[in-house]
Amino acid sequence: MAKPLRVGIAGLGTVGASVVELLRANGPALAARAGRPIEVVRAASRTPKPDLGLDAVFDTDLKSLASDDVDVLVELIGGDTMARDIVARALDAGQHVVTANKALLAAFGGELFDKAEQGNLALGFEAAVAGGIPIINALRNGLAANEVDVLAGIVNGTSNYILTAMEDDGWSFADALAEAQRLGYAEADPTFDIEGIDAAQKLAILAALAFDTDIDFTGVHVEGISQVDIEDIRYARELGFSIKHLGIARLTDAGVEARVHPALVPDTLLLAKVAGVMNAVMVHGSAVGPTLYVGPGAGGMPTASAVVADLVEVARGTHTVPRAPERCLRSLPIDGVACPHYLKIPAIDQPGVFAEVADILSRHDISIEAVIQRPQAIRAGAEPWVPIVILTDDVAETVVEDSVAELGRLPGVTGTITRIRVADLGAMMPAA
Ligand code: HSE
Repeated sequence: MAKPLRVGIAGLGTVGASVVELLRANGPALAARAGRPIEVVRAASRTPKPDLGLDAVFDTDLKSLASDDVDVLVELIGGDTMARDIVARALDAGQHVVTANKALLAAFGGELFDKAEQGNLALGFEAAVAGGIPIINALRNGLAANEVDVLAGIVNGTSNYILTAMEDDGWSFADALAEAQRLGYAEADPTFDIEGIDAAQKLAILAALAFDTDIDFTGVHVEGISQVDIEDIRYARELGFSIKHLGIARLTDAGVEARVHPALVPDTLLLAKVAGVMNAVMVHGSAVGPTLYVGPGAGGMPTASAVVADLVEVARGTHTVPRAPERCLRSLPIDGVACPHYLKIPAIDQPGVFAEVADILSRHDISIEAVIQRPQAIRAGAEPWVPIVILTDDVAETVVEDSVAELGRLPGVTGTITRIRVADLGAMMPAA
């Protein structure tokens, strides 16, 4: 058999440990598929991990991996400071790189892909987006015949885990987050998950690949799930929707619209059924139409599955060497989006208040699709109040913003108005 592919692993956390375990458990089969053994010859992490029983040179200095006996660096330390340094050094030294680090690629992908292209080296990043789903491979290879115009999906496992636990089991946000952290799904800083940053980084990577463009990550509109209340989840259910945290990217004549936010997804779409840590990415291609890719989006073994797939490609010599994108399209502001909205308006339980609400919506030319107001939802206060829930027809961002501001100034409105967009991709998405 040909000589082994010699791997150096930076970072032995949840994913690093799973990569070591997977290479060991499936070693012979992987060697047969790759045409040669894949061996971890060096590893580095901040603290030694003797329990892994790793038969490799270990160092706490990450720079020790820039050694002649390493063919490919696997970067699993996260963050974009030290990771940028060691990945750049590896590429400069002629080592291939495999990384799970979306933050690094979203911020410094351009310069690192350039280095890989110049050195004719792999910079594999299947594990950086949607965990175990081979979505990078699908976009690069399986869908190569298509012009992609829309992609959308659930790309943060932690957020989906939290929303599902709230919807199905009535868990509190905090308990669900703690469990996601215990299971090893969440980022080191879980605000990256719950505030949508992780999802935005992944969406930027997917959109760049799908639309063959440089995407400025800062052009992605980002909202997380920390404001989603269990009451909204219940009202949404009643209206025939699940609340999901979606990333949506569209190619338009004017540029790329990319946004990450909670959205009501109709039960008629497969996306609404994607539960727990599962991720799902819908890609609409010009030839194939709508396609959907579903799988675990976080966790040690699913992410290791993607890392090892990239290693097998390098071992075989079938890896893709990055090339500069064809174009640099404009990132469009969210103002151009128009979609239906869910509004929850806390209102004093008095005659005439609903009429005033309806009047403001009517003056903004907003059509009402559905309304819920329940006598049993009336809450005590200096003046009893009740949530009025309204589902609108399509409404433009700027119009909904103006309307919500005006509604908030009504004397009969007692608190903050909740506003959640409705996923507006029905015709594009595979139905359940
Ligand atoms: N924290 C990420 C998630 C894991 O929850 O999806 C991998 O990106």
